[in-house]
Amino acid sequence: MKFGIILGSTREGRVSPQVGEYIQKVASKQAGHEFEIVDIADYNLPFLGTGEANPAWNAKINELDGYIFIVQEYNHGMSAALKNALDSARDEWFNKAAGIVSYGSGGGIRAAEQVRLVLAEQYVAGVRTNPAFNLFTDFENFSTFKPGDHMEAGVNDMLNELINWSVAFKAIR
Ligand SMILES: Cc1cc2nc3c(=O)[nH]c(=O)nc-3n(C[C@H](O)[C@H](O)[C@H](O)COP(=O)(O)O)c2cc1C
Repeated sequence: MKFGIILGSTREGRVSPQVGEYIQKVASKQAGHEFEIVDIADYNLPFLGTGEANPAWNAKINELDGYIFIVQEYNHGMSAALKNALDSARDEWFNKAAGIVSYGSGGGIRAAEQVRLVLAEQYVAGVRTNPAFNLFTDFENFSTFKPGDHMEAGVNDMLNELINWSVAFKAIR
C-alpha cells in the first residue's frame, strides 16, 4: 500500500521536513509498503475559495491508501496551511486511516487532537498512537531534529496500527 507523509507546515525555516524524513526512514523498514513525503508547499494551494484550486492535490490525496500527518503546534492549534489542505479535498480522503506525528513545546498534542477532530469529519480514522516530539528535548536549538532512540518504538506502533486499519479500509472502498 501507498502512504503519504504529509508535511503540515509551509513556513520558511520550518523543521517539518526533518521530522517527515525521520518517519520515512523508520517506515522504510515496513516491508511491502511505500511511504512518500507529500509537501503541501509544492501544491501552492490557494486559501479555499480564493483562487483556482489545484487538482494535483486532490489527485494525490485520492491515490494514497492512508496518511501520516506531520503536525506542528501553532498557537495551540494546527497550522492554517494544514487546515486549508484538509479543507481543499473532500471525498478523496474518505474511508482511510491516518497516523498523527506531532511536535511542539508540549509535544504538539493540542494541535494533534484538533487534527483528529477534523479528520473524523472527512471519514478518516486516526489511529491511537501519536508519537509526540518535544521541541526542548528532541531538537537541538529548536531547529535540528535529534529524536531520542526511545521514540522509535512509538513510531513503529503507530505504523503497525496504520497499516492494519488501512488494509481493513481498503476492503470497504
Ligand atoms: C505562529 C507560531 C505559533 C506557535 N505557537 C506555538 C504553541 O502554541 N505551542 C507550541 O508548542 N509551539 C508553538 N510554536 C512553535 C512551533 O511549534 C515551532 O516553531 C515548530 O518548529 C513549528 O513547526 P515548523 O518549524 O515545521 O513550522 C509556534 C510557532 C509559530 C511560528
